[in-house]
Amino acid sequence: MANRGSTLVTEDEITRQEAFMHSVRELNPGADKKYLISTFGCQMNENDSEKLAGMLESMGYIRTDEMDECDLILFNTCCVRENAELKVYGHLGALKPLKSRRPGLVIAVCGCMMQQKEVVEHILEKYRHVDLIFGTHNLHKFPELLYRAVTGDAAVADISSCDGYIAEGLPVRREHSVKAWLTIMYGCNNFCSYCIVPHVRGRERSRMVSDILDEARFLARQGYKEITLLGQNVNSYGLDRKDGTSFAALLHRLEEIDGIERVRFMTSHPKDLSDELIYAMRDCHKVCEHLHLPVQAGSSRILAEMNRRYSREHYFELVQKVREHIPGISITTDIIVGFPGETDEDFEDTLDLVENIRFDYAYTFLYSRRTGTPAARKTDQVSEEVKKKRFEELLNIQNRISNEINSKLAGTVTEVLTEGHSKNNIDMMTGRTRTNKIVNFKGSADLTGRLVRVKIDKTGTWSLDGTLV
Ligand code: 5AD
Ligand code: SF4
Repeated sequence: MANRGSTLVTEDEITRQEAFMHSVRELNPGADKKYLISTFGCQMNENDSEKLAGMLESMGYIRTDEMDECDLILFNTCCVRENAELKVYGHLGALKPLKSRRPGLVIAVCGCMMQQKEVVEHILEKYRHVDLIFGTHNLHKFPELLYRAVTGDAAVADISSCDGYIAEGLPVRREHSVKAWLTIMYGCNNFCSYCIVPHVRGRERSRMVSDILDEARFLARQGYKEITLLGQNVNSYGLDRKDGTSFAALLHRLEEIDGIERVRFMTSHPKDLSDELIYAMRDCHKVCEHLHLPVQAGSSRILAEMNRRYSREHYFELVQKVREHIPGISITTDIIVGFPGETDEDFEDTLDLVENIRFDYAYTFLYSRRTGTPAARKTDQVSEEVKKKRFEELLNIQNRISNEINSKLAGTVTEVLTEGHSKNNIDMMTGRTRTNKIVNFKGSADLTGRLVRVKIDKTGTWSLDGTLV
């Protein structure tokens, strides 16, 4: 099924890609070719990788975790911070000997990093063992590109610009069996001055409500209990469609889907968090009591420099309103330290905000200079040493607060959706509370996918331990 309405991927285009899936399968007699996808970055990339894996399995590829036995290795990259990019270059370099030993191995790179022209040129020049490069806008063309890479001699690079494509109906091989990612929109219009995302992911494009509901119903039929709606800024979902669609209205529609027990979403931008959305969170029983609301900085001056379009005071008011309407809600955030021009006083404002808001958890990042963004051109960059010192200080404070908040849960009984065995201890099951806290408890595998009640015995900074009641 292709998307209808204002988007541009036609039934013909999808049918053409299906034909390529078939052709690649024909190139793989015995269907024993093995693949590995390595994913960097956010949940959106994880969801993209699930689609890439779905297409590969439709082409007869089998998943493996062993690089040495792979016929195809695909890196789905991220460029939000420099570190993520450096890791990809490191992995690509390390694959050179394997490619010499196994010339039939296809090495492919895709994702956000590949939407930058200089990166593609650099890879084509310096990493000549790479066979295939493509970006985020032509994910649905993967079967065709792979066919060309497998049958041709030269490297294939296809980085089309964003022209509003939303490809519906791609096969998906999901990582989890209980909870699923569901991307509702692509791109970002906000242009925060530090951020590369709008430059590589293009403008906001919302999927049609009916397509989202169809996918959610399909997930429910497959036994999924929880969905997380994904978008760079879900609060502005639907605005680009100009037909009155809103995110709050979407939440109300999802409430009607039998089988789905929990709905989450990320990420929300404070400037667009409407009262309508707060009321929808309050009124929709399936929508969990958790809000990820990136603040980025605690100083209004830095927020203005970041082009965030809200002040510190506005953020405080928002959090207060959210807590008033949804008691017990957990609030998490993203914070960047060392934005250009950040003074000791500005940083103190961030610490003060963290102490006063008391986030359940904060994802903290060292500011990373991204070529092409306004902040990268600023001359008052903060030294690495100062950034690291501030980062440590912030982390210590936030860890203490997370620990204090969690310790209050000791002795309480809470609803947990069981996700499966704990990664660290096979005797333990793991799941999450509605407030998105990880809970480990003794239980049997048949609890997977079930809502259970757990009494919390022990609490830590990142997870809780409990007993089934
Ligand atoms: N440097 C550091 N962190 C960044 N983020 C986005 N761009 C940068 C950057 N240049 C962080 C923001 C965002 C999260 C996904 O990544 O905090 O919310
Ligand atoms: Fe980047 Fe800001 Fe868009 Fe988030 S809202 S993706 S931080 S530009």
